[in-house]
Amino acid sequence: MSESILKVQNIGKSFGGTEVLRDVSFELERGKFKTIIGPNGAGKTTLFNIISGVMKPTSGSVFFEGTDITGMPTYKLAQMGLGRSFQVTNIFPRSTVIENLRIVAQAKSNAKYQLFRHYTTYKDFLDLADEILVQVKLEGKGDRLAKDLTHAEQRKLEIGMQLALNSKLILFDEPTAGVSAEECPALIEVIRNIKRTGEHSILLIEHKIGMIMDISDTIAVLHNGVLIADDEPEIIRKNKAVQDAYLGGGAIE
Ligand SMILES: Nc1ncnc2c1ncn2[C@@H]1O[C@H](COP(=O)(O)OP(=O)(O)O)[C@@H](O)[C@H]1O
Ligand SMILES: [Mg+2]
Repeated sequence: MSESILKVQNIGKSFGGTEVLRDVSFELERGKFKTIIGPNGAGKTTLFNIISGVMKPTSGSVFFEGTDITGMPTYKLAQMGLGRSFQVTNIFPRSTVIENLRIVAQAKSNAKYQLFRHYTTYKDFLDLADEILVQVKLEGKGDRLAKDLTHAEQRKLEIGMQLALNSKLILFDEPTAGVSAEECPALIEVIRNIKRTGEHSILLIEHKIGMIMDISDTIAVLHNGVLIADDEPEIIRKNKAVQDAYLGGGAIE
């Protein structure tokens, strides 16, 4: 069995007296793509906040590459290679697309954990930014100001910034939220391409199940704060408990 890049162990979270997550455990193997699905209010974002260091759990632990990272701050996790695709606030709105990518790549290189040691000059960073521009399908948009991009393009730029950071594990919280129906397929395609490189492990959360069925290696189902299933998509599709809990007994579309 390959090494787990992420191990979530018996996570519990309460706000005041309300239990939002109960005894949630799962692992993500290196290079794999796992999606966590569940209806609104299931606790998905809370779980992400705990994994990405935004919040501390009430109980349980999170391990990244075998290291206990429970409660570590987000910036430290980013340095270690655990990146979260944040909302648009993480983009430098008045910089161009290419500058956003270059700044992140260069900052990463200057940081203590140097993964881009071979990129040493300004031009090298620009070349890297250009490569990423193509990977996230923003060719021809490098000179646009980030604030002038469409919502979907900004999400692509955020993904590009995770690539510039060379995150080993990228977390996505409903990447298609607020993205128009016409722009959704291209955004999913970008995520699919990142999976194809095999260089990044991906944990994605989504409440629209249809879209992620065929890109996920495994799907975990969160219902009322409890993980009720975690398996390959085809097995999840046929799971009676998942159908009952998540779709009121209806078939999974
Ligand atoms: N900071 C908070 N304080 C109190 N309750 C919260 C907080 N964050 C989330 N919750 C509650 O936790 C539950 C799960 O929310 P969330 O994790 O956002 O679900 P999801 O992302 O699956 O829609 C909801 O009932 C929500 O109201
Ligand atoms: Mg959410």
